[in-house]
Amino acid sequence: MAKPFIAGNWKMNTDAAGAAALASGLANELAGIGSVDVAVCPPFVYLQAVATAIAGSQIKMGAQDIYFEDKGAFTGEISCGMLKDVCCSYVIVGHSERRHVLGETDELINRKLTAAITGGLQPILCVGELLEQREAAQTDAVVAGQVKKGLAGVTPEQMQVVTVAYEPVWAIGTGKTATSQQAQEVHAMIRRLLAELYDESIAGKTRIQYGGSAKPANTAELMANPDVDGLLVGGASLKVADFATMIKTVA
Ligand code: 13P
Repeated sequence: MAKPFIAGNWKMNTDAAGAAALASGLANELAGIGSVDVAVCPPFVYLQAVATAIAGSQIKMGAQDIYFEDKGAFTGEISCGMLKDVCCSYVIVGHSERRHVLGETDELINRKLTAAITGGLQPILCVGELLEQREAAQTDAVVAGQVKKGLAGVTPEQMQVVTVAYEPVWAIGTGKTATSQQAQEVHAMIRRLLAELYDESIAGKTRIQYGGSAKPANTAELMANPDVDGLLVGGASLKVADFATMIKTVA
């Protein structure tokens, strides 16, 4: 199995002091844990402060979004070069809140993912179905479509830096985690699809995270699945003790 990868998506939370305290608290708690890749994804405005707080630790940093152009008249947007400048290693693309609240399309997400890879960031491509899609037995079709469109044009070599995060929309922030079996079924489907799109070796090496009400109490069970390689954690990543416990459970 690929090295586990646990990332914390802070979403639009924290403030300057809180972001720095959360990051340095984690760096202290996780000192010496090398068997899990760990990243935190703070709001843009706190990236610099978090970079300082985690300097010298094994924690890496990601952004929550990116724009696909390098520079220019794109008011409010942030480029790959800017994110690299403040020490980001990763970037989340296609989070369900950006798809469903901000209206991002698969085509836009694909351009962002491609810009991230080309510019030297490691994208985390989020995919996941709505509750009504699950109830209509459309989960596989919806998720497979998002994976295919998100990865359009991505070469086998570029896949080395891509993580896929399966986040069923109905499980995000609701306290309703997918059952271990529901997560495993979709993760296995994604891995079969990656084998079709690329090959078995790339499918085996691509890390597929689960996200949606992941917390200390369900970490071990979710991670016991053969196709769950990591977690993308929202709410529980805002508390040093909870996020550190999850990482230590995996380690
Ligand atoms: P919660 O862990 O708060 O459900 O959020 C999951 C998520 O959206 C991570 O990107």
